[in-house]
Amino acid sequence: KRAAILISGRGSNMLALIEAAEDAHYPVEIAGVISDKADAGGLETARGHGIPAVAVPRGDYASKADHEHALQAELARLDPDIVCLAGFMRLLSAEFLEPWKGRIINIHPSLLPKYKGLDTHERAIEARDTVHGCSVHHVTAGMDDGPVIMQAEVPVLPDDTPETLAARVLAEEHRMYPLALAELARSAN
Ligand code: GRF
Repeated sequence: KRAAILISGRGSNMLALIEAAEDAHYPVEIAGVISDKADAGGLETARGHGIPAVAVPRGDYASKADHEHALQAELARLDPDIVCLAGFMRLLSAEFLEPWKGRIINIHPSLLPKYKGLDTHERAIEARDTVHGCSVHHVTAGMDDGPVIMQAEVPVLPDDTPETLAARVLAEEHRMYPLALAELARSAN
């Protein structure tokens, strides 16, 4: 199976997937990386691992539809079986998602359905949650809304700040995303 990864930033989850796929026994090969931001740090990280990486910046296109067509064209070149969103900060339309139904997944730093959207760690601390975590889920047109594939929990400690909690969750993201992608690849035919 081949996967493409969409990013917007530093790409630490992207790197976790690339490193997992460097193992010959891993059931997925990373076909390439696409960023919607020209300055995403993850682009250089991917290239450093020999993975083709291109930027398709939103600002280069007149409309969201034009931008999505350009993203779709880059995906067509990579010809993946599965698309992984990894810190990709843009909502994709139902039309864009249609050809990828069941084959496009995202990682989100909360125990969905709790805390969709931004500032999840701050919100978990604010709510005095004692457990927090991350989810890999199927992507639908609603934000962070599709069926959950896998979740991992971490404790929220009494003196946690959003930063310390984010770091604890991120370590679980890096462990879980490769597992969830492998599971999807093995179950899809
Ligand atoms: C991660 O916390 C991910 O769950 C969220 O955005 C962050 C991206 O980090 N969607 P990175 O670019 O993978 O390092």
